[in-house]
Amino acid sequence: MDVILETFIVLGKFLYYFLESLVYKIIPKSKKDVAGEIVLITGAGSGIGRLMAIKFASLGAILVLWDINEEGNMETCRLAKEKGGEKVFAYKCDCSNRQEVYRVADQVKEEVGDVTILINNAGVVTGKPFLNTPDHMVERSFLVNALSHFWTCKAFLPAMIKANHGHLVCISSAAGVIGIKGLSDYCSSKFAAFGLAESLFFELKLIKGSKLKTTIVCPYFIKTGMFDGATTKCPLLLPILEQEYAAKKIVNAILEEQVYLLMPKIVYLALIFKQIFSPNMLLALAKYSGVDTCMANFRGREKANEDQNETEKDHQS
Ligand SMILES: NC(=O)c1ccc[n+]([C@@H]2O[C@H](COP(=O)([O-])OP(=O)(O)OC[C@H]3O[C@@H](n4cnc5c(N)ncnc54)[C@H](O)[C@@H]3O)[C@@H](O)[C@H]2O)c1
Repeated sequence: MDVILETFIVLGKFLYYFLESLVYKIIPKSKKDVAGEIVLITGAGSGIGRLMAIKFASLGAILVLWDINEEGNMETCRLAKEKGGEKVFAYKCDCSNRQEVYRVADQVKEEVGDVTILINNAGVVTGKPFLNTPDHMVERSFLVNALSHFWTCKAFLPAMIKANHGHLVCISSAAGVIGIKGLSDYCSSKFAAFGLAESLFFELKLIKGSKLKTTIVCPYFIKTGMFDGATTKCPLLLPILEQEYAAKKIVNAILEEQVYLLMPKIVYLALIFKQIFSPNMLLALAKYSGVDTCMANFRGREKANEDQNETEKDHQS
């Protein structure tokens, strides 16, 4: 009898939540007010991290910016202040170093206060075929893209749980839900980040009366320079995203407290295809869309910067 009753209850809940999600597709969710919230962004020294910082500054948030690149981080700090950020704090922090994360986290708690929105955004990519990927680069990918999320969450989550107020944001990747050729260490570290965030989402959600939020972001390539040289064969279906667009969508997902943001939308379909198509069908689709060769001309930010410096030197001489 209990089982039958429980089954009816769960079916009722399914219907209710299904209709609720349909309503939210038509009427956009109200956005939360982040004025006065303490938002920490790792990897704030460039790309998406910088753009998110600027957007949160204009919304009145108190910003804590972390990056291993002090110069880039100070520039973000300057830009965020220019965009109206009244309280912006920049810290040099190597997120791959557990002790350093805990030390700088303590400093933040003392100097700024308890972080209420934690955005794990710092990331690195190697972009080499599996057997050409040096061991230390594999370790670096896992340390920055996945393990650092454990340290930052451990540092800031206790205060969020105590106050029953907080939001964890994980910047994973489309490569964190679908394996891509030439990105073995990146994909696996991003799968790990996704898994941690999803597991934490359930753990926090199941605390009675919990108001803690989680957002997991999985974008395809974005024009920040990180994936310089990566290509797409189907720009209409699988575009390389403009960084302004991507940052806007991410901030919006955080404000609307969305749990998942996969972009472009075709990434949601790819997840479904993965479950229902045969491996050969998936391979044919990868070849058709150019995902099989998307990393063939990859140079990445470091190579792109080197080339830029060379060109500048040539122009000067
Ligand atoms: N650009 C893309 O195509 C793309 C696609 C999907 C997901 N992402 C993810 O989005 C996030 C932001 O990427 P982006 O495109 O803005 O790249 P980016 O290179 O512009 O920014 C990454 C930032 O992380 C910082 N960083 C690297 N190692 C660090 C460390 N050990 N400690 C602290 N900071 C460190 C870098 O200095 C840099 O400022 C990353 O997690 C990336 O994996 C990017």
